[in-house]
Formats: sequence, structure tokens, C-alpha cells
Amino acid sequence: MMRTQPITALNAFDAADIGSSPSELRGLLERRDRLFGGTSYLMYDDPLHVARASGVWLYDPLGEAYLDAYNNVPSIGHCHPAVVEAISDQAARLNTNTRYLYDIVYDYAERLLATFPNGLSTIAFTCTGSESSDLALRVARAYTGGQGAVVTSNAYHGNTTAVAAISPASGPDVPIGQDVRTVRTPDTLRYPAAHIGARFAEDVEAAFANLRRHGVKPAALIMDTIFSSDGVYPDPGGFLVEGVAAARAAGALIVADEVQPGFGRTGVHMWGFGRHALSPDLVILGKPMGNGFPVAGVVARREVLAGFSQSSGYFNTFGGNPLAAAAGLAVLEVIEREGLIANAGLVGDYLTRGLKELAVRFPLVADVRSAGLYTGVEICCPGTVSPDVAMTKRIINGLRKRRILVSSAGVAGNVLKIRPPLCFSQQNADSLLHGLAEVLETASQ
Ligand SMILES: Cc1ncc(COP(=O)(O)O)c(C=O)c1O
Repeated sequence: MMRTQPITALNAFDAADIGSSPSELRGLLERRDRLFGGTSYLMYDDPLHVARASGVWLYDPLGEAYLDAYNNVPSIGHCHPAVVEAISDQAARLNTNTRYLYDIVYDYAERLLATFPNGLSTIAFTCTGSESSDLALRVARAYTGGQGAVVTSNAYHGNTTAVAAISPASGPDVPIGQDVRTVRTPDTLRYPAAHIGARFAEDVEAAFANLRRHGVKPAALIMDTIFSSDGVYPDPGGFLVEGVAAARAAGALIVADEVQPGFGRTGVHMWGFGRHALSPDLVILGKPMGNGFPVAGVVARREVLAGFSQSSGYFNTFGGNPLAAAAGLAVLEVIEREGLIANAGLVGDYLTRGLKELAVRFPLVADVRSAGLYTGVEICCPGTVSPDVAMTKRIINGLRKRRILVSSAGVAGNVLKIRPPLCFSQQNADSLLHGLAEVLETASQ
């Protein structure tokens, strides 16, 4: 299936509806439209005006609470006091560019790198996931001397010119690079899970062979290890092993994009690639790293980064500044102190069981796929695997009316994306399940 709209258009508010929006929002919507024009995307038919947040809750200006089952950026909980305190202290002490010696930046780098398997021992800090993807691509190309990249057919890795060319989810009008090939999404709803690894490996082998046939030397197999934009495909654990072997045999490096699954979200493991028992050469980090403070990075095998550093070097004015390091360090401490990885596993399993019960009751729920607190719920026309996009939108907006926030993923946009802060509790899961059951009940009538 080809994407017919950019990823940014999923669950997006249509600016043509400003006139019929609630009067208290109209002024803000018009202002936003006037100032940001076409690049402005808001979520939901009824965009949400938020004033503050705490833990798993967002509050509107009237103080109404919304259960946040979507945000992976404030990953350890909105406005976590440990992060607020760490950034305030550091901002009051020192923040400048990255070309001085700083204790806190090395304390952070050491602590972060200790969470990676042996060999992934160096890091270059950036500010966004897109910068990290861009840098990983440059490093892989410099190390291999090749240009060829292979990604999944609805991958999203960010928004720079080079990265848009490896991000088919950017939409049909954003060209994929001539040195880029796509492989099929590991879609376990439409293809037997037991054979998905072998199919992925065949595709990877064929993609690199095709690049060579066109005179393009392989450089990298790049994978979001939860396949979020593809529609959330975590299982079966380990299914990437054969594809990775095929990429290595072709001479490519393995790049794990951990912007979505990283920092404990999938439960059990700190990193999504851990579920697949992989040892990548480069790892892209972003979003949850600073709990909302912009900090990102590329973790690399020392020798892989070394060659690139000699040939071109890398300087990023803000990447890994002391303030960013303070935020990142606080996030790691909280993940450990509050047992958030175990919580993601326990609550994620509980939520998944509840969602699977709903799938039995409501045939429009075609599939529930999850790892820890990353869940995709696929909505199809009952009894088929045919995406029901209109119904998906109805469900998302029905939940939003009940003050429960989720969004969508997948090529067609018919997969509910449920990805709450990692402090989500069983009680929060019950509220979500209860609200979803009500919405499905209404939608099924
Ligand atoms: C898998 C993945 N990689 C990279 C990025 C880019 O990150 P950023 O928006 O911080 O540039 C995203 C953003 O959604 C992402 O989902």
C-alpha cells in the first residue's frame, strides 16, 4: 500500500474547519494559521488548548484534565520535578556552546553509554532526532565509502533534506533518494509472523543487490526498531536478525533508530534493538532523551565514528550543552529510581490484555500489537484486513471528547498509536480501556 498523504497529516485538524470551531478556540486557530501557514499541523478535529501538565495529565486553561496516552517526549512524566530542578540549577550556573570542558556532559555521556552493549562506546550529541539521523547517514556513508541506504516502505527518520530522502512517510510528493531502496513493512497482520523475518531478510538482500546493480555501494540498513510510522510492528522478538545478517553480508552498517522505542519504552530492555538481540553499529537517539528538553545524539562504535571525525569532523553549537546534559542525566536517574522500564512492561502487558479483550468484543479491532508501553491497535472493516481510516478518526476524536488522548500511525493511518508517559499506571490503563470500550460501543452501532 502506498502512502497517499504525509505523516504530518495523520489525525490532523483541517484549517478549513476554523470557522466551525468552538468560539473560544477560533482566535488562537486563526492566529496560528496566519503565523505558521501551511506548515502548521494540529491534532484532533477539536484541537486541544493546553495550559499546564503533570505526570500523565494535560490540563486545559479551565483546569480540565486530559489523560495523556500519546506523548513519548515527556517520557518519564510531564514536568517531572527532577528534570525541572536539574535544568533550573544548571541554567542558573552555566550554559554555553559545546567547545569547553564540562564535568556534567561527561557524567551524562558515561552514564548513557553504560546502557549500551559493548562496542557502542562513543557519542556525538545533537539537538533533534532529524539531526541524529542525518549524522548517522553521513557517518555510515563515510565509513563504508558507499551511498546506498535501505529503509522500510513507510519509514520516518526526520526532516532534513538527506533524511527526507530516506523517509517515505514524508508523503508521495517528497522524493525518495536515488541511492535509497525500500523493503516491505513487517506487517504481521497480513503475513504470517513465523515467516516475517525470512521475508524481511529476502527483501533486504534484494534491495542491496538492486543498489549494486545500479552502481550504488551499500552504506546502511536503517530501522526504527518498533516500526512506528509503518504501523507498530514489534513481534516476534528477534525477527530482524536474518535481515541484519543480509545487510552485513552486503557490506552495509546497521543503524537502529531508537527515537521511538528507546529509553525503556518497550519494557524489559532500555533499547528497542535489545528485543531483537541486535548489535547495531550506529544508534539514533532523540525525543524522550531530555523529557522535553531538546537533546539527541548518535551512539557509535568507536572506529565507525573515528573515520568520519578525521575526514570532516562534527560541530553542533547546542548539541550536548550543559543544560541538555542536566536534563538527560535526570531522565536516566528517574528511569532507574522509579523502575520505569519494569512499569512499562507490567502496565503495557496489562493494557495489551485489556485491548485484546476489546478485540474479541469488537470485530473492527483487527489487531493489537505491543511491546511495553508502545501499542498499535489496527482498525479495519469488520472481518477483513481492509483499513477503516474514517472509523479510526472517529475513535481518536471520540476518545478526545472523553478527555483521553491517543493518535494514529501506519501507511493508511488506521492504527491507533498508544504511547503514554512511562509512569502510566494500571488505573490509567483502566480509564483508557473503559473510554475506548464506550467509543467502540457507539461506533459499532
Ligand atoms: C523514528 C524517528 N526518527 C527520527 C525522528 C525525527 O526526530 P525529530 O522530530 O526530533 O527531528 C522521528 C520523529 O518523529 C522519528 O519518529
